[in-house]
Amino acid sequence: MSEVTMIGLGPMGTAMAEAFMAAGHDVTVWNRTTSKADKLVAKGAALAAEPATGELLVISQLDYQAMYDSLGEARLDGKTLVNLSSGTPAELREAAAWVAGRGGTLVTAGIMVPPPGVGQPGAYTFYSGPKDAFDRHAGTLEALSAVTYVGADPGLAMLYYQAQLLIFWSALTSFMHAAALLRRAGVPPTAFAPFAKGLHGELAGEGPMGFLTILAGELESGVYPGDENSLRMQAVGMGHVVETLRDAGLETTVPEALHRLFARADAEGHGDEGIAAVVESIEKP
Ligand SMILES: NC(=O)c1ccc[n+]([C@@H]2O[C@H](COP(=O)([O-])OP(=O)(O)OC[C@H]3O[C@@H](n4cnc5c(N)ncnc54)[C@H](OP(=O)(O)O)[C@@H]3O)[C@@H](O)[C@H]2O)c1
Repeated sequence: MSEVTMIGLGPMGTAMAEAFMAAGHDVTVWNRTTSKADKLVAKGAALAAEPATGELLVISQLDYQAMYDSLGEARLDGKTLVNLSSGTPAELREAAAWVAGRGGTLVTAGIMVPPPGVGQPGAYTFYSGPKDAFDRHAGTLEALSAVTYVGADPGLAMLYYQAQLLIFWSALTSFMHAAALLRRAGVPPTAFAPFAKGLHGELAGEGPMGFLTILAGELESGVYPGDENSLRMQAVGMGHVVETLRDAGLETTVPEALHRLFARADAEGHGDEGIAAVVESIEKP
């Protein structure tokens, strides 16, 4: 079993330390606010006086600034840092150079699960950075989730992570708008939820509603057939949705923005194509 130092003991870092311990690793913990380590120490974790303790440092903090603040001027010779904190791809690339300048290696990561899911089936994490460093520690990192290495560019893990979050937050916000709209008509959110779940399943499936597969192919080929469901028809329908929300006295910022995007793609000559043609307008802001 390996030795792991967990830096950052918010809800995620705490769950990670517990998952490493459950997998039988020797866990040392460090947090800016030391008292947050108490429960883990009671369960057998060691408390580090300095964050740069040991060879494998796993970091889960608010952002990358927290890593700089925590490590300060510490040398990192021979150490591998695996940072699962949120940042921008540019910040991750800068951090990789910063760690290398102190003699260490940075593996960047984006974990796709909330604290109760850490170490549970279905959890997965995107990793990027030097492949040899990732490979060396992949077995240990599997205590947190399934591991998916996406490439050497240190920014890539965050790009995948943010791409997933964009879908996650958009989908959940659209569900809140939809549920609020139906609630105005007396339909409880729990009565509507099965239909929303069904739709998500269909979108992810391979049938005629399997739009994630269909769109991925169309985006790759640059051909967006709209014979059976034109973008113009969908822009008009989206306008009706916005009007319905407004009539119901609900907030419409996000649905209006969607409608504007569809209408712009139509105005830019894509009305007869399919919905995937919207990507042309997304790529030309
Ligand atoms: N929670 C989730 O559902 C979830 C899911 C996936 C990914 N994430 C990501 O995981 C990371 C951790 O999230 P979290 O929910 O555990 O809580 P968080 O509030 O994002 O992070 C808390 C941790 O960051 C530390 N911290 C913040 N600023 C610091 C600084 N300047 N110097 C040193 N330490 C600092 C805190 O130390 P103190 O205890 O001393 O304040 C604490 O250990 C975030 O980047 C988040 O985006 C979260």
